Amino acid sequence: MGMIFDETYRPFFENAFREGLYDRRFGVCEVDLAAVASRTGGRAEAYRASSKGNVGGFQSFIEPNSIGQLLDVGVDFVCVATPDDRHFAAAKAALEAGKHVLIEKPSVLSLAELDELERLAREKNVLAKVVYHKLFDPDHKKLRTFVHDGVLCHVNNGYCSLLEPKLISGAQFSEWITGRNPGTYVAVHYIKLIDFTFGGRLKRVTCTGQRGIVGPSDGPTWDSTQLRMVYEYGDGREAAFDIHTSWVTPDNFPGYVEQEVQFRFDNGVWNGHSRKRGVECTVEGKTPFQIKNSINNHYNGTFVEPYGDRSQRGYGIEVLERFVREVGFVELGGPPASRADRVEQMRTYHYNDVSADRQVVAAVQAMEAILAEHVAGNPDCVVKVNGEAGGLALYKPGISEPQVLYSSEV
Ligand SMILES: NC(=O)c1ccc[n+]([C@@H]2O[C@H](COP(=O)([O-])OP(=O)(O)OC[C@H]3O[C@@H](n4cnc5c(N)ncnc54)[C@H](O)[C@@H]3O)[C@@H](O)[C@H]2O)c1
Repeated sequence: MGMIFDETYRPFFENAFREGLYDRRFGVCEVDLAAVASRTGGRAEAYRASSKGNVGGFQSFIEPNSIGQLLDVGVDFVCVATPDDRHFAAAKAALEAGKHVLIEKPSVLSLAELDELERLAREKNVLAKVVYHKLFDPDHKKLRTFVHDGVLCHVNNGYCSLLEPKLISGAQFSEWITGRNPGTYVAVHYIKLIDFTFGGRLKRVTCTGQRGIVGPSDGPTWDSTQLRMVYEYGDGREAAFDIHTSWVTPDNFPGYVEQEVQFRFDNGVWNGHSRKRGVECTVEGKTPFQIKNSINNHYNGTFVEPYGDRSQRGYGIEVLERFVREVGFVELGGPPASRADRVEQMRTYHYNDVSADRQVVAAVQAMEAILAEHVAGNPDCVVKVNGEAGGLALYKPGISEPQVLYSSEV
């Protein structure tokens, strides 16, 4: 029931409450928000009060065992939007109960956890999927289309940066920020974009970062991180990607979440910049706090439609609707006898299935391990992927014997 619920799940459920979900494979499907689970229930009650008429009645469960109580209600699918180090427990409980699951990014923090979720999804014959809405951003879809169609050939290297305002680390996430880093929180958007768009095999991961604003300069909580990933492609050529993230950018920075990418190819360069996407707007007394100077109207915008209705739409909501269509197809898109085939068909979507998230989770696990070593006094470690020591092996400077983080192939 946190920030991302309010930004994307709330409008999705309100849209579905108002309009139903139509798909010619299964007709009109009613999608009710049946129950929510959170730590204290405060925001759930505030939402209940403010949402009258926009969404149906829902039950609200709080800790302890909020997820267990929610599962007992008999829901059809579960969306996990807890802090990232609490995704695994909730997703596991939901899969064990035989529910389809959609997990916020990053899916989980280790390959062992990912293996367990994938195993459970197969055992229970349900979907386990991850939300990576940046793959639905029209700009990123165009990038991938150019790569897919061979218009842009062979990525050589690139950089991405995503800068969150200080209020994210200082106020919004104060309850769970200790020991966390902005890389896991937002670099993962670009790890997935790179992994999904360019393919290839992840080879090496390095990472460094800065501390001293969110927490002490020798503590485990990071202000900013710089991650480097090296991939190898089928022809043996490599590409390197640098991803810089922060959650201590001044709150009055005109771009709410500053995002920039550049990818260089054998035959071209792709530049993307969130603040240069097209709109710059100033309103006296309102920008940049209540209204942003550069508004992303594609992610999640509130509009008065040309035909008069008020709406909230964008790729941040579209990605959730797409998952619910996949669940609808499994449960309602044909006879029960062929349900398993429909599950298998929906699993082939690499953009969101947990089985296709291995290299992304590998990069996240490597980054977390490297930063933990940095805190322990060993900066500049490197993690090699699928090398002679195993799936993920962490090498400390000056020590030849690696620490194996994951022994099977990634
Ligand atoms: N897709 C995106 O762009 C995007 C943006 C923001 C956040 N996220 C992801 O969404 C997740 C949540 O982020 P947020 O910004 O909404 O965080 P938040 O801190 O605003 O909200 C977290 C919610 O989790 C609940 N919670 C915490 N521990 C719980 C537990 N043990 N059992 C049940 N509920 C518990 C809290 O009560 C709160 O409602 C994170 O994984 C984050 O990475 C995604």
